[in-house]
Amino acid sequence: MQYITQAEKLFLLRTDETAYLLLINEYGHPEHLHYGTPVALADAAALRYKRTMPYGAEVLYAEDDPTYCLDNLPLEWSGIGKGDFRVSPIELELPDGSYTCDFVFQCAKLQPGARGASTLPGAYAEESADAETLVLTLKEKVFALQLELIYTVYPHENVITRRSVLHSQEASPVRIRRMMSQLLDLPNDGYRLVTLDGDWIQEAHRHDRALMPGCFVNESTTGNSSNRHNPGVMLAAPTACEDSGNVYGFNLIYSGNHYTAVELSPRNMVRIVSGINPLCFCWQLAQGETFETPEAVLTFSFHGFNGMSHNFHEFILHRILRGDWKAKDRPVLLNNWEAHFFDFTRRKLLRLARRAKKLGVELFVLDDGWFGARNSDHAGLGDYTVNRKKLRDGIEGLAQRINALGMQFGLWFEPESINTDSELYRNHPEYAMQLPGRTPALGRNQLLLDLANPAVRDYIVENVSSILDRANITYVKWDMNRHMSDIYSAVCPAGELYHRYILGLYEVLERIFRARPHILLESCASGGNRFDLGMLCYSQQIWASDDTDPIERLKIQKGFSYFYPPVCMGAHVSQSPHQQTLRSTPLSTRFNVAAFGALGYELDLAELSPIEHRQIKEQISFYKQVRHTLQFGRFYRYQLPEMNKDVFLAVAPDQSHAVLSFVQTLATAGDSNDGLRVKGLDANARYRLTAVPQKVSLARFGGLLKHIMPFTLRADGFILRTANRVHALPDGPFSLCASGTALQSGVGLNDQFIGTGYHKDLRLWGDFGSQLYVVELEQEEEAE
Ligand code: DGJ
Repeated sequence: MQYITQAEKLFLLRTDETAYLLLINEYGHPEHLHYGTPVALADAAALRYKRTMPYGAEVLYAEDDPTYCLDNLPLEWSGIGKGDFRVSPIELELPDGSYTCDFVFQCAKLQPGARGASTLPGAYAEESADAETLVLTLKEKVFALQLELIYTVYPHENVITRRSVLHSQEASPVRIRRMMSQLLDLPNDGYRLVTLDGDWIQEAHRHDRALMPGCFVNESTTGNSSNRHNPGVMLAAPTACEDSGNVYGFNLIYSGNHYTAVELSPRNMVRIVSGINPLCFCWQLAQGETFETPEAVLTFSFHGFNGMSHNFHEFILHRILRGDWKAKDRPVLLNNWEAHFFDFTRRKLLRLARRAKKLGVELFVLDDGWFGARNSDHAGLGDYTVNRKKLRDGIEGLAQRINALGMQFGLWFEPESINTDSELYRNHPEYAMQLPGRTPALGRNQLLLDLANPAVRDYIVENVSSILDRANITYVKWDMNRHMSDIYSAVCPAGELYHRYILGLYEVLERIFRARPHILLESCASGGNRFDLGMLCYSQQIWASDDTDPIERLKIQKGFSYFYPPVCMGAHVSQSPHQQTLRSTPLSTRFNVAAFGALGYELDLAELSPIEHRQIKEQISFYKQVRHTLQFGRFYRYQLPEMNKDVFLAVAPDQSHAVLSFVQTLATAGDSNDGLRVKGLDANARYRLTAVPQKVSLARFGGLLKHIMPFTLRADGFILRTANRVHALPDGPFSLCASGTALQSGVGLNDQFIGTGYHKDLRLWGDFGSQLYVVELEQEEEAE
């Protein structure tokens, strides 16, 4: 073992840049010593919490030891009823009706590789040398219960995962009312708690708060990991910023109701527990049965938030994503949803597809509305019969035509839901999740199917698989459009249903997609309502949000980027004015933001002017040249002093090139002297930084145009309207050559247009203007 060392009852877990130290103390409790910067076994005594003084008003664990009080100790696990009054990781209703439990050390086992759960998805190590695992087995002091605390070290990703497993040998059932994946007690360092919160079309907005005495809970109660609160949370030192300072990141490989409690205790310790949400949770564990919790993912970086993100991105790329698409560049897609909604025919689709092909699109995706009576969102969910009025030669026929055009074909499904107006509901109302004797609450006019029921799972697997095998489908969008309500199942107790639903979902995904690894799966739940590591074990990308307004997307994509790499984020260019915000944005900015994700287009191409067609063609061709870096490169966020600017950066792993997107939200009068700092380059190399050519529409200048024309033209007149369809002005051509060091310290850009004159090199930005820049190694002059 290279990364986990044991010295009697002391355990050191190391990654390339972090260390985790724990010991089993004299009472058999796992005590936490350190998590963070690299330390050695020899530091254990120094790092250990010192117990020298008894406190008043506390419950002692052992009568003859006035300093041993569980409430004051940094622990790795705890119970109930033995003097630790902080948030507990476990609550069991024991066979005698009591709740007190006390787990103490039994044995430890070290093993190479990862040890995956058998009922849940988790991280994996391809080679056993890529990971090492420590299993601490504890036993309950009175009842025949065994608890395993499983730690897996992923050294090069600087990640340690933790999960807990409970096994019962009690003759009578034990009820699990709460069981967390992990517990960690850290000394407080003035930490800020950072969470990603939102709702539909405003997912993953970052929020920071100071830790105050008491408990803060980041959770989901909607049945999904939810757009309300992403399961990823961060603890950051007071001075931590994007590029420096200590930052801890915690996440969960789980797609259902999650729960992370962060408690600042009276002894100035921070307790973090995370796992399945205990809300309405009650799991009956019979003799001989085992309950597994989802894997919690922990990382630490002293390189600020970007450092923490890099650990998570590497972990997802190498230990979470699977299938043929794991490391493959994602195709540029066109999705027909915002072009047609439910109103399409085969002819309309093919017309759109031909236009898409001319632009360079590689994958054509047919969204909602192709089956049953699905002509609106009131009917059809649950049915799989193709609507022959819309698609006379079925999905197979359409797929063939799309393939013949030279594009791949992808299809939308929403398999977890059912409309009451559907054949499935008429035949199997019992498949729907609803409570006998109550009118069920609808969400988007639909109910959910009871995925705890094996018959429902078989129905979904058989129907989806049969469509997938009938046509050449290489991409699937798996949608899910409502929160859960009316929690009831005919096949399991309500207290188990939230979790059994998610287990059922994983089983269905496993059966359909593990057998078809050639399919690129994009998960979606009204946008980013299920953007989590559990889904990423099956789907290589996730539709980040139904909001494609680039200015809103900046916040959303930035938020998700704390935990998830750009390649996992579906990002589309759509129509302007935007359908939700009514904001008009330049085509260049829509692309410049969407380019930092798995790029797609989602608009009616027939509405584009010839000049917009040309621009999109250029965008796609450029994207294809650099997409590997945009999707898989090292991603950086910036912390800029100006509130109206944002920069995203992706650097190739070999530092040979990088791509930046510099976006201005609202313009300010007379703004100038913008600079650009390019992080992550080779300091000793010379690079050329070039603005990616883009155009700005003449219409942006409105009445100003008449001042530069030799004759008078009406801004909204026929001539300018026509000119606008075929011409546009070059926007901010720019190029310079500099060393990696100069680029890292910041180089100046040309000024922005402020109405004092026109020069061809000005940045013509205004509100919502932006620019992409490419940085490439300068070619060495050939020796004579
Ligand atoms: C919600 C998704 O987020 C949209 O992209 C689209 O697929 C619709 N569902 C279709 O109903």
